[in-house]
Amino acid sequence: MCGLVGYLGSKDALPFLLEGLKRLEYRGYDSAGVALLNEGNFSIIKKKGKIANLEAELPEKNLSHAGIGHNRWATHGEPSDVNAHPHQANSGNIVIAHNGIIENHLEIREDLEAKGIEFKSDTDTEVIVQLLDFYMKENPKVFFTDAVQAILPKLAGTYGILFLHKDYPDTLIGVRNGSPLCFGLSNGEFIISSDVIAFATYMPQVVHLEDKEMVIIEKDNYRISTFKGAIVDKELENIDKQQTTASKGEYDHFMLKEIYEQPRSVLRAIRGRLLNEEGNTKLGGINMDVRDFFDIDHICFVGCGTSYHAGLLGVYLMESMARIPSTAEIAPELKYRNPIVRKKTLYVGISQSGETADTNSTLQEIKNKGGKVIGICNVVGSSMARMTGAGIYVHAGLEISVCSTKAFTSQISAIYLLSILMARSKDMSIHAGRRLVKGLDEIPQKISQILEQKDRIREIAKKYSHFNNFLFMGRGNNYPVALEGALKLKEVAYVFAEGYSSAEMKHGAIALIDPECASIFICPDDNMRTKNVSNIQEVRSRNGRILAIVTEGDTEICDVADDVLEIPATEPELTPFLTIIHLQLFSYFIALELGKDIDQPRNLAKSVTVE
Ligand code: F6R
Repeated sequence: MCGLVGYLGSKDALPFLLEGLKRLEYRGYDSAGVALLNEGNFSIIKKKGKIANLEAELPEKNLSHAGIGHNRWATHGEPSDVNAHPHQANSGNIVIAHNGIIENHLEIREDLEAKGIEFKSDTDTEVIVQLLDFYMKENPKVFFTDAVQAILPKLAGTYGILFLHKDYPDTLIGVRNGSPLCFGLSNGEFIISSDVIAFATYMPQVVHLEDKEMVIIEKDNYRISTFKGAIVDKELENIDKQQTTASKGEYDHFMLKEIYEQPRSVLRAIRGRLLNEEGNTKLGGINMDVRDFFDIDHICFVGCGTSYHAGLLGVYLMESMARIPSTAEIAPELKYRNPIVRKKTLYVGISQSGETADTNSTLQEIKNKGGKVIGICNVVGSSMARMTGAGIYVHAGLEISVCSTKAFTSQISAIYLLSILMARSKDMSIHAGRRLVKGLDEIPQKISQILEQKDRIREIAKKYSHFNNFLFMGRGNNYPVALEGALKLKEVAYVFAEGYSSAEMKHGAIALIDPECASIFICPDDNMRTKNVSNIQEVRSRNGRILAIVTEGDTEICDVADDVLEIPATEPELTPFLTIIHLQLFSYFIALELGKDIDQPRNLAKSVTVE
């Protein structure tokens, strides 16, 4: 959410800023802008809309060696040229770009306005630059860095901020408090960004800032300090290129490419972690051994959106396989009801990006209360991975599509591995363990078989593309899949869809059933099938339109549903891996049919770094 990029070095800053912004565009695309320091003055170019709009306005040649850029996902103030970042102080001396929210912006604004400062934008961000400007005017002898340090305690909320001052052409400052910030360096050149992918191709190493740290880059040197000025020593970390480069290749959209990557991404998540003979799994990164499991009597999965849905499936798996009472929590709901943190609960944070503010701040709250926290995360070195210090990397590779697909199947891979591991330390027999491990091993190949049905799924999606209301229904392990399927459709096709337990339908949602409402039943051959068939019949009797996802050869359901999509037979516990693939493709093809902006759906952004 919002992309920040800054450059300081001996080369022309603009190409680096532009390339960085393009790579970060999936994080926010309401507006974009750059500020370049040219012979003692700033040139600022900002445009509403996508980077292409900004690019059309940029000069062909530019000789600036210092600059900052920003992709915006609007929080305060509508998307517009004026509200786009970077923002400049009234004196013209300072420019900043900001990711996050300044919660006390109204207070600061009113205070500055009372002192005669005029504001140009509706953003919370502008208060930072005007406050700094005012402070430097009041304290004419203060150095730029000291002034930045002096105003930070006045800002409440979360932020990653980049600062440039025209009288300090060789200084670029970045500060972090709750919004990610890192920088790369190579031969006296520096690029600082909210995400390593902005500079991964130019720079081999990265330094991640932690909260309440700042970096002061000066010519070919840098120093990191706390907000209070204490110097911090940090290791340079090598950048994992696999995690940071992506192209659409032969696919029209990242979403489709990432759906197609799933046989490989699931394989990467489980590879080396299955113990066929022992009917067990191994997970080195959780820093727990089998004896530690005796002390766990409750698992709490914590996440948002798709990651929350993965956690909800975790509840079904942990309870049915490992017989450990479990819950799944939408992260901020847990945080703000003041969690009762228990010694014997294992808290499992789930996040693709590892940068979701709601999830990270909840995990931090749990840690502060002494809870045991691990993470299931895709991005190596992300804030969540560093905060938890233990967990499971899912190795899905870079996910660019705002609508998450391969992250989900990778996250549930990790959850199946963890569930089997814990189950085997409790009641699960070696035979049951072997059956599941073998089943997991076969999943990548079975996902490929579904992907081969692309044309059929597309044809069905076309038939359903005129519906304005969808109910996605499933039970047991496929209830979380129903929620996830509905989320996919809402996100990319902007069609109203609700995920529902098919068991719960008759308690209310059945009132919606008529020929204009499409019911998508997830009804594989598992222990819920018979009950699901009854629920399908209930919809049929009310003239509802039914698409059912079934296990191949289920002729009974073929007879009652209007349309069916088939998954290959698998172990009953593992069907979510396969049913979700149909739903991802179904949503993709409906969005395609409706002509939506699939990789950058309106109002959304990848990685929500504000609460
Ligand atoms: C859905 C989607 C979001 C994310 C959610 C959490 O397609 O992308 O719902 O799942 O914002 O993001 P992470 O997993 O990065 O914490």
